[in-house]
Amino acid sequence: MAISRNFLLIGTLYLVIGIGLGSHMGASGDHTLAPVHAHINLLGFTLMAVFGLCYRVIPGLAEAGLARAHFWLHQAGALVLLAALALMMSGTVAGEVIGPVFPVAELAILAGVLCFGLNLWRRA
Ligand code: HEM
Ligand code: HEM
Repeated sequence: MAISRNFLLIGTLYLVIGIGLGSHMGASGDHTLAPVHAHINLLGFTLMAVFGLCYRVIPGLAEAGLARAHFWLHQAGALVLLAALALMMSGTVAGEVIGPVFPVAELAILAGVLCFGLNLWRRA
């Protein structure tokens, strides 16, 4: 799997969505979803772009099993976290109902980052 390319392409997709939401907030004057916008751009685009570049420039980093674990943990965690945050902050689903989803998604993202860190430790 082309981990670098996939991180960069999916990250750019998040950036398009993040800019779309930012423009909508600016135009409407309703900034309720500002934290959703911020984290789509930061957790979605910025982090994935940094990861994509690291897997491109550091020899051997993308070949490790840890890289695949990191990729899937980050994709699943970020998607679930951002979707849950959007549903909660837009008032679509009550915080008490969707609340338990957050620690699971956060743990997935954290576990992915630990895989990334260990892989860097071994190969960078
Ligand atoms: C055309 C692109 C963008 C537009 C139109 C836009 C628009 C906005 C707006 C209207 C707000 C709310 C400001 C407020 O409530 O005070 C905001 C907040 C924010 N934006 Fe953007 N934004 C854009 C791109 C980005 C990008 C690329 C990033 C990060 C990589 C980013 C990160 C943030 C952050 C961190 C906040 C603060 C959120 C918070 O205080 O909870 N934005 N943006
Ligand atoms: C699992 C990952 C993350 C979680 C659970 C998380 C959680 C939070 C929370 C609870 C807030 C406060 C929101 C509010 O006051 O409305 C926040 C704000 C913020 N976070 Fe994150 N965050 C995560 C990842 C990141 C990453 C990766 C970045 C940057 C690359 C980032 C940058 C920010 C910024 C810039 C703010 C806004 C600070 C402000 O406007 O006062 N976060 N985050």
